[in-house]
Amino acid sequence: MRLLKKAAAIGIASLMVLSMAACGSGAKETTAAATETTTAESKTTAESTAEAVKEAVGGDLSDKKVGISIYKFDDNFMTLYRTELQRYLVDELGFKKENVVVQDGKNDQAEQTNQIQNFITQKYDVLILNLVQSSSAPEVTEMCKEAGIPVVYINREPTVEEEQRWKDEGIKATYVGCDARQSGTYQGEEILETSNKGDINGDGVVSYIMIQGDPENVDAQYRTEFSVKALTDAGVEVKELLKQRGDWDQAKAQQITQDALTQFGDEIEVVFCNNDAMALGALQSIEAAGRTVNKDIYLVGVDALTEAVQNVLDDKQTGTVFNDHLSQAQAAADMASAFILGEEVENVNMVDYVKVTKENAQEVLDKLK
Ligand code: GAL
Repeated sequence: MRLLKKAAAIGIASLMVLSMAACGSGAKETTAAATETTTAESKTTAESTAEAVKEAVGGDLSDKKVGISIYKFDDNFMTLYRTELQRYLVDELGFKKENVVVQDGKNDQAEQTNQIQNFITQKYDVLILNLVQSSSAPEVTEMCKEAGIPVVYINREPTVEEEQRWKDEGIKATYVGCDARQSGTYQGEEILETSNKGDINGDGVVSYIMIQGDPENVDAQYRTEFSVKALTDAGVEVKELLKQRGDWDQAKAQQITQDALTQFGDEIEVVFCNNDAMALGALQSIEAAGRTVNKDIYLVGVDALTEAVQNVLDDKQTGTVFNDHLSQAQAAADMASAFILGEEVENVNMVDYVKVTKENAQEVLDKLK
């Protein structure tokens, strides 16, 4: 037990230090080399925590039950995330496959609350929840608290006040995610790093359209705000031609981009997408309109879906940002195990984003495969 306490604490602490160091040094300083260190270190962290967890329970977490609910299965990024979550819980931490149950919240909070209620009735040992509505966190946390079941929230961050409440009241709840301000800043930097800083037509103003994710995830708001802020902070003048919700969805983004290209034509110099699925949709319309990425229009996304990273290599997308689903899934599973073992768990646990441009895209692709 003692060994576990140490190893788990070191693991969790080093994850946090990594993330805090990156926040402190500012987005600009992260390089491909730093990326490698982060990934390598978090892997070591995950491995040592996994070993320690196994040792502490005599090598067997197999009788413990983990209930997982994803906001909806039909989401490219969350599909990668939940696949890694299941793999890591079963293959690395030793939970029995049938004791790791993953439900589809179907983008319906009432449906998801029902699923959570069922997990509680069936006395699951810990829950990992990607809420449909992050604003439901206080209610869901109370349900879990009353039943004595710890909860790990992922991907859609509850409010800072709610997270603080868990800490103040000693509630067994935690959040694992990324600070989306960082991803927005990286997107803006990718535009600043182009030869003309995004001002393709040389009129002194960067004219852009912004395709936003579902606002239930604060990521949508932060990426929207901080991508543009990176430009204005650098003294670049900007003009927003259009801002519209694409709900993280490829088909919606394709339609929005098609309509925007019809309305604004060559005036559009940059297409900001809050995620890669939407960037893939935007690209379809950009190509259909006869425009060429990195030549007469720029396009950026977030997540580092393999298709998008390949597009970065092929000059079909200017850049993306790796939303590290591997480290996030592993950290979430480690926190869930720590709760089961009665360990102390921090109320907020952040993982770093990684900027992806043509320079490191191949390296990132190799890691993802
Ligand atoms: C974001 C991700 C999106 C989408 C969303 C769901 O972090 O970038 O692609 O998966 O989470 O809440």
